[in-house]
Amino acid sequence: MKTINLIQFGLGGVGRAVVQRVLAARDEFEWRYGLQLIYTAISDSRSAAIDLDGFSHAQLQAMVEAKTAGGFLDDTEFGYQSHDLTAIVDIAGTDETIVIDVTATDKTSDALLLALQRGYGAALANKKPLTGPFSLFRQLTSTGRLRYESTVGAGVPVIATLRESILASFDPVQRIQGCFSGTLGFLTTGLEEGKDFSELVAKARTLGYTEPDPRDDLGGMDVARKALILARTLGWPLELSQIPVESLFPPEMATGSVDDFMAGLPTLDEPYRLRVAAAQEQRKTLRYVASLAAGQAEVGLQEVARASALGQLRGSDNLAAFHTSVYNQTPLVLQGRGAGVHGTAAGVLADIVALAD
Ligand SMILES: NC(=O)c1ccc[n+]([C@@H]2O[C@H](COP(=O)([O-])OP(=O)(O)OC[C@H]3O[C@@H](n4cnc5c(N)ncnc54)[C@H](OP(=O)(O)O)[C@@H]3O)[C@@H](O)[C@H]2O)c1
Repeated sequence: MKTINLIQFGLGGVGRAVVQRVLAARDEFEWRYGLQLIYTAISDSRSAAIDLDGFSHAQLQAMVEAKTAGGFLDDTEFGYQSHDLTAIVDIAGTDETIVIDVTATDKTSDALLLALQRGYGAALANKKPLTGPFSLFRQLTSTGRLRYESTVGAGVPVIATLRESILASFDPVQRIQGCFSGTLGFLTTGLEEGKDFSELVAKARTLGYTEPDPRDDLGGMDVARKALILARTLGWPLELSQIPVESLFPPEMATGSVDDFMAGLPTLDEPYRLRVAAAQEQRKTLRYVASLAAGQAEVGLQEVARASALGQLRGSDNLAAFHTSVYNQTPLVLQGRGAGVHGTAAGVLADIVALAD
């Protein structure tokens, strides 16, 4: 039996789903892989809990419940105030350790670098450390001990397919096209069905599909980060600032309160209606697409053929289409649920098992 210590940064929606999944998988992983996963440390933005012998099922459940209720780890009997992530790696790491980054901050890089320097593995759903300077991406990924499946397409194995099927078979990539935002997929499908842009954004916000400020989704930066991760995985030394990003709202709506922004949205209904109609005249439809080709990446609204894989995509599903030398007539297409904490946690767990091998 191989025992792997887990150190987890972040116990938000995804972090809690990862803990629940690890707990649920324990018995099966023991007989299937001879693998025992134990948590020796968990941290949130204010506090940490460390037990070098590993937390019990009941203790982990208590932490998940405290966080679900909106508290912090130091509200439980196990936590103490500190969020020095490097010190946590230093204290709680052993030879067989995997650090899980399910925060949404760029402040985990030093701790991740320390973990990798010590030979530990790292599994990330957090895009921020991978979308800083290219040199940092290289440092983090050069050991081969850092995996980041859930950063693009959540649980859909976009990164594994690219790294372990396409790049590993020396199959040159000509082009990648993808829809990597469930929120923007929901919007473009609704536009195609004739709904108003303002109505769709309001509904997406009410359903919790958008960030509290929908501009964080509509601005396209999250998709740009995913395109950057794909580009860098291909070996292209791009920076985030080099990726043209089309925002779904004009610059004058970028400032001001969320309420003002929502109130101004009906002014965009007619322009979007015209854009959809123009696409439909050519049997096309609008999709928010990340496109990578010839060392460049861009993200924005594109008119795509309704009969294409991208045109057939519905709702919040994600899709990646790989055009390569082998897949030159028909692209290799992956499609599935691309958002949500459970799919994301599934991708993290798959990374943990791959690292533990
Ligand atoms: N939700 C999805 O469907 C999805 C899909 C793909 C990828 N992701 C990525 O997965 C990550 C987590 O998403 P989420 O929805 O779980 O976010 P979330 O609910 O906001 O949780 C983030 C967690 O990170 C913790 N945190 C923030 N700063 C920290 C710091 N400096 N040190 C330690 N912990 C820190 C937060 O602590 P507090 O609890 O104290 O605030 C919180 O527990 C994000 O990077 C997101 O982009 C999410």
